[in-house]
Amino acid sequence: MADSVEIRALNDGDPETMSAAFKGIGAGKPVVQYRRYLAEQLAGTRACLVATLDRQFAGYVTVNWAPTYCAFVEQQIPEIQDLNVLPGFRRKGLATRLLDRAEEEISRRSGIAGIGVGLHPGYNQAQRLYAKRGYIPDGRGVTYRDRYVEEGAPVVLDDDLVLHLTKRLEQQPVRDEASGRLRGLLSSRATG
Ligand SMILES: CC(C)(COP(=O)(O)OP(=O)(O)OC[C@H]1O[C@@H](n2cnc3c(N)ncnc32)[C@H](O)[C@@H]1OP(=O)(O)O)[C@@H](O)C(=O)NCCC(=O)NCCS
Repeated sequence: MADSVEIRALNDGDPETMSAAFKGIGAGKPVVQYRRYLAEQLAGTRACLVATLDRQFAGYVTVNWAPTYCAFVEQQIPEIQDLNVLPGFRRKGLATRLLDRAEEEISRRSGIAGIGVGLHPGYNQAQRLYAKRGYIPDGRGVTYRDRYVEEGAPVVLDDDLVLHLTKRLEQQPVRDEASGRLRGLLSSRATG
């Protein structure tokens, strides 16, 4: 991938651009959604990373530091959410770059990253991408609106039917201010 790719934090000028870009491909992503992400980023509950190619907006991903899915709440696993690359910029490694950065951010706070992936055909590419990156099912089943679906229950195959995946991350070395030495920030005890 060329050097003209930039991955950076969401800023004040982005919401309108992002919403317009998705409107251009017929996807309803309102400006308020990105303003909310900006507010959450300021509040420290979400990180939002934006990818540009030759300074043009191309995609984004967010990390929710306070997800609502019960297994992630219990284990304090940050959740990667809302990964999107505009169709014209796909298969250029942008999602890979966004996920690299998201995992780097997560690894400063947690030994495990979580993701919920939809099961309908719109998520076919994402399912392969996550599997190739080492994400595996969390082994608790499929949820519909964050509630586990019982065997045999009828379901609607829409965006709310989700399988949660986790990945164990490498420890990020951090400098110990007291001793000036590098040490591992995380214990890698948890699942994944
Ligand atoms: C999933 C998505 C983010 C991938 O973005 P991308 O920038 O094209 O991804 P990358 O170029 O980094 O591709 C990485 C890998 O993902 C897989 N992949 C991506 N697109 C694929 C496709 N069309 N068919 C098969 N595999 C695909 C491949 O394994 C690919 O590696 P490769 O190119 O070396 O074969 C993009 O297709 C998208 O925005 N989809 C719609 C939204 C979505 O599903 N978001 C996920 C929400 S959970």
